[in-house]
Amino acid sequence: MEPTKKLSNDDLRKLDKTVVWHAFSQMSEYDGLIIDSASGCWLTDIDGNRYLDGTSALWCNLFGHQVPEIDSAIRNQLSHVAHVTNLGMSHPATIQLAERLADLAPGELKHVFFSGDGASAVEVAMKLAFQFWRQCDPPAPQRTKFIALGDAYHGDTIGTVSVSGVSRFQSLFSPLLFEVVRGPCPDSFRLPVGMDPTQACQWYLSEYRKLLEQHADETVAVIVEPMIQGAAGFVTQPRGFLRGLAELCREFGLLWIADEIAVGMGRTGRFFAIEHEGIHNDPSLVPDFICLGKGLTGGYLAMSATLCSTRIWNVFLGSHAELKTFFHGHTYGGNPLAAAAGNAVMDLFQSQYSMEKLLPKIEYFQRCLEPLKGLAIVGDVRQLGMMAAVDFVKDRATKEPFGWNERISARICKRLLEKGIWLRPLGNVIPILPPLSISGDDLELLTRSLFESVLEVQEELIRS
Ligand SMILES: Cc1ncc(COP(=O)(O)O)c(C=O)c1O
Repeated sequence: MEPTKKLSNDDLRKLDKTVVWHAFSQMSEYDGLIIDSASGCWLTDIDGNRYLDGTSALWCNLFGHQVPEIDSAIRNQLSHVAHVTNLGMSHPATIQLAERLADLAPGELKHVFFSGDGASAVEVAMKLAFQFWRQCDPPAPQRTKFIALGDAYHGDTIGTVSVSGVSRFQSLFSPLLFEVVRGPCPDSFRLPVGMDPTQACQWYLSEYRKLLEQHADETVAVIVEPMIQGAAGFVTQPRGFLRGLAELCREFGLLWIADEIAVGMGRTGRFFAIEHEGIHNDPSLVPDFICLGKGLTGGYLAMSATLCSTRIWNVFLGSHAELKTFFHGHTYGGNPLAAAAGNAVMDLFQSQYSMEKLLPKIEYFQRCLEPLKGLAIVGDVRQLGMMAAVDFVKDRATKEPFGWNERISARICKRLLEKGIWLRPLGNVIPILPPLSISGDDLELLTRSLFESVLEVQEELIRS
């Protein structure tokens, strides 16, 4: 093996397409950016071109790049220790981050298990829930199933793919997956025929009630991404759905897992997305698990967390010989560098980026998105906090989506790239998740460029 050397830009481009296997990418067509540096919300590639990142590095970068507070927290941590194992050891930064998350979390969510990525945090919640029922008094070993939402996405490991419901990511692997009880995808844009959002909410809940009546006794937990199912296409749940589902879980004595990997950490304008439905104020409805990831380190380092309740924690306590231990862990779980970044993120939320201070920006974002609604191929513009998506349709009246192969969003994103804007398509949807720190001018540039690019593709469609 050769020592590290400076590769030419041509070599980098060639190797990036042949040696690096990029996530969710068709490598035979791959032609991605290679980023050399970044500052604030702007990325600079190896040729010196600058791009405004409207995706927050796939929904995780909260306060931009080269944030002085996060940079110095990591540097300071480096001068102490980069990593210690989480098995039989700990570190002040990790302990403090756990304590701060537990402090912020509602209800009895006072215990934190650290992993490295979102899927692992969800798997931890699922395994803890499964083991809980085997160790509680009286044990309920017949509980083997999870209930999940239609079109859910919870990660790419076999366990999380099992509970996910996006068929293009999942169907190939079906022989490897475990059986899941799946309800409909609560959708406030493509409503069930003839229903308004209130009726739709009641209908969705009645479908879940039927599932619980049938399966509650064999169910480990209900897993749900609160408010918006991101990877499903930023599908928003009708108001009242999440609260209604939480109430059903309690009525039927079930555990519930809130997967806040994408929607947590302030992304939706509340620290936890469950707050939108007042669930944090009702101890009886607070989930048994909240999974956090992505923004936990401000988009700097790989870290996720599974917050769990004292009720769960207690069931795992006992003597070594009782085998109540949670035999699960990841090499880098609780990594001190990531925890130092996490603590800096918590400081930033306390000082510059409180949810109250974010409100005017969220309102401005809403105003900037408004013109998009007038475009013929835009079926819906949805927004919750600093998380928005544009849904493209062939026909606004019927909401008929474009065909998969028409790649409308990809064509729009290509136009955006020419304008120096980085957004990534998701089927017929373009998600817009700028860093919470984005300036008003950049927010205006981002949404105006999107408007212009949609218009260009729309006109191209009319001409063809
Ligand atoms: C809701 C949700 N859960 C879990 C995950 C998996 O997170 P990761 O990619 O960090 O494994 C994601 C990733 O996008 C997600 O959106």
